[in-house]
Amino acid sequence: MPKPLTCDPALLDLDLHGRRYVITGANSGIGLVTARQLAAQGAEVVMACRRVGEAEARIAEIRAELPDARLEARELDLGSLASVRVFAEGLLADGGRLDGLVNNAGVMNTPQGRTADGFELQLGINHLGHFLLTELLRPMLQRSAPSRIVNLSSCFHDKAMGREGDIHFDDLHYDRRRYDGWEAYAQSKLANLLHARGLARRLDGTGVTAVSVHPGWVRTNLARNTMPMWMQDFVLRPVFRVMGMIEPWEGAQTTLHCLLADDVPQHAGAYYSQTGTYRDKAANKGGWPLRSPNPRAHDDALVERLWQVSERLVGLAEEAPAR
Ligand SMILES: NC(=O)c1ccc[n+]([C@@H]2O[C@H](COP(=O)([O-])OP(=O)(O)OC[C@H]3O[C@@H](n4cnc5c(N)ncnc54)[C@H](OP(=O)(O)O)[C@@H]3O)[C@@H](O)[C@H]2O)c1
Repeated sequence: MPKPLTCDPALLDLDLHGRRYVITGANSGIGLVTARQLAAQGAEVVMACRRVGEAEARIAEIRAELPDARLEARELDLGSLASVRVFAEGLLADGGRLDGLVNNAGVMNTPQGRTADGFELQLGINHLGHFLLTELLRPMLQRSAPSRIVNLSSCFHDKAMGREGDIHFDDLHYDRRRYDGWEAYAQSKLANLLHARGLARRLDGTGVTAVSVHPGWVRTNLARNTMPMWMQDFVLRPVFRVMGMIEPWEGAQTTLHCLLADDVPQHAGAYYSQTGTYRDKAANKGGWPLRSPNPRAHDDALVERLWQVSERLVGLAEEAPAR
């Protein structure tokens, strides 16, 4: 496997005092490491998590090492549009800056399920919840410009265990066909990438830069619906490492680069990839940015169609929301 890409060490020394970031799903995995690093550099970080108790426990651990870390846990369940609205309203009401929104939370290959609003679980949590959150926080990001939005996509937006990433507008929520957990994950991760492209078009000239990333194959809890965690973390860990699995710190590098590197605003809407597994083997070494091998990732009509459908589903379009 190619060597993982790493951030310019100078970026990890930048003084981030005065900056504030929101990271969804920051109580574990890549989000937790990203939150810790930004706080270590002086930033204030809002950890937007569905299990606030877990986030608070992680904050206590970080503070034991970094007593001045400014981290705050707030409740956000991306599987409920009502929860997304309550979170955003709270943040907006408290005021202050927002220098970066990291749409990081995610679930993978779940059993078939529905969010509180009846959406297919992976599309609902990974994309639609983040879509609404981003729209609600956009004014705050624009007021704080220059600012950034980083969507955690995946190389599985291209192909996930043999399933090509596509948006199945004819049956987004698996109402009429047999559910496939990998296909649904690929759909949701392609949506994350297309969302960043749609944002980049709308944010042109505002100083807010949106991009999407593949963080690498990272040893986190994400695989919990695919294999027991003890198998990944102990039994198969050395074999997986040789096959390309990386540690959470390595998995946070692409997000940190996208939040902090100077040249990212020149690539609004781009896809940044850690090492990965793509249909085009040349892409496996990753790239900051990388041209996705999935032709659908470059389809402007698809970007716009997904935007309009998402707007309607989350209740932001004029007509009544419909599934
Ligand atoms: N790990 C990889 O190999 C890999 C590869 C490509 C892309 N990614 C992407 O990287 C992102 C981060 O994942 P990770 O690998 O760090 O996995 P992780 O350790 O499982 O973290 C995922 C986070 O999302 C949170 N979450 C799940 N459902 C949520 C909901 N309804 N509302 C709010 N938060 C919710 C989880 O909260 P709980 O702790 O409460 O479950 C957890 O904090 C995901 O978007 C994933 O798709 C990961």
